[in-house]
Amino acid sequence: MKVFVNKRIPDNGIRILKEANLEIIVPETETPTQEEWLENCKKADIILSVGGKNKYDKDFFDACPNIKAIALFSVGFDQVDIKEATKRKIAVGNTPDVLSRATSDVAFLLMQMVSRKASYNIDKVKSGNWKDFDALEELGQELYGKTLGILGLGRIGFEMAEKCKAAFGMDIIYHNRSHNQEAEKELDAKYVSFDALIENSDVISIHANYTPEQANIFNESIFERMKPNLIFINTARGGFHNEQDLLSALKSGSIWGAGLDVTNPEPMDNNSPLLELSNVCVLPHIGSATIEARSGMARLAAENVVAFAKGEKMPACVNPEVYED
Ligand code: DGY
Repeated sequence: MKVFVNKRIPDNGIRILKEANLEIIVPETETPTQEEWLENCKKADIILSVGGKNKYDKDFFDACPNIKAIALFSVGFDQVDIKEATKRKIAVGNTPDVLSRATSDVAFLLMQMVSRKASYNIDKVKSGNWKDFDALEELGQELYGKTLGILGLGRIGFEMAEKCKAAFGMDIIYHNRSHNQEAEKELDAKYVSFDALIENSDVISIHANYTPEQANIFNESIFERMKPNLIFINTARGGFHNEQDLLSALKSGSIWGAGLDVTNPEPMDNNSPLLELSNVCVLPHIGSATIEARSGMARLAAENVVAFAKGEKMPACVNPEVYED
């Protein structure tokens, strides 16, 4: 079978594909056009898809009828119309677990950076604005004993909650599709409604899978109901928050700070007024960007491809229904 790997990945992934004697197609240039990308997709049976830009929807599947499987190099699968793929028996794989530590580390990092206005203070040093000691200058807030609210308590959310509890003795509340028994038992996490989550948290961290129904769920009317000391952390998908409303909420003092590893759109415009605020820290979607996580993602994505090519079930399949008769 022919596998189109649309961008470079760590070598261990390519090795796995080669050892399985799969024919690998790679882009001819480093920055292929949309047309070149589509041409390569048309030639392939399976796509190992890296990055969130390419959308796999009805139009795409109509244009590339040969495609039998998509192995995503990500845990998120919002770039695929899963319903449409499943209808066409196209298996979709993703890379859960291998990036949970790295991504939760970034959520934890952002929370601390925002609580001490780290980005802003680093810029101050770099721009030569480190002035005399001032007892009232740019005070941060401590996290000890505060309440962490998690939206979407799966593996990444669990790891974030575990770190916050261990480091700062934070209380954990969460809202999810279902109860997370392990978190309730091990971290004393309490399941709450979405309303209770937004009204009672001191820090909110999003770790849910993004679907279009959740677009802009963090908007003006929601930010208004949060605590004024709230730190908003998004390492999931930029679509969850309305960026203009987030800016207004920060400016008006409805909430205290924000740490974003994902923005809407990406990349963020470097003139965004959010970047001017002292209580904001923005990172360029680096949640899974560690050597360990990326090599785990390469392995799992390649294993998904190989399993599918051999007629076996993908080890991490988003739509296992495709294997049913
Ligand atoms: C993921 O794995 O979903 C990360 O956000 C990288 O896209």
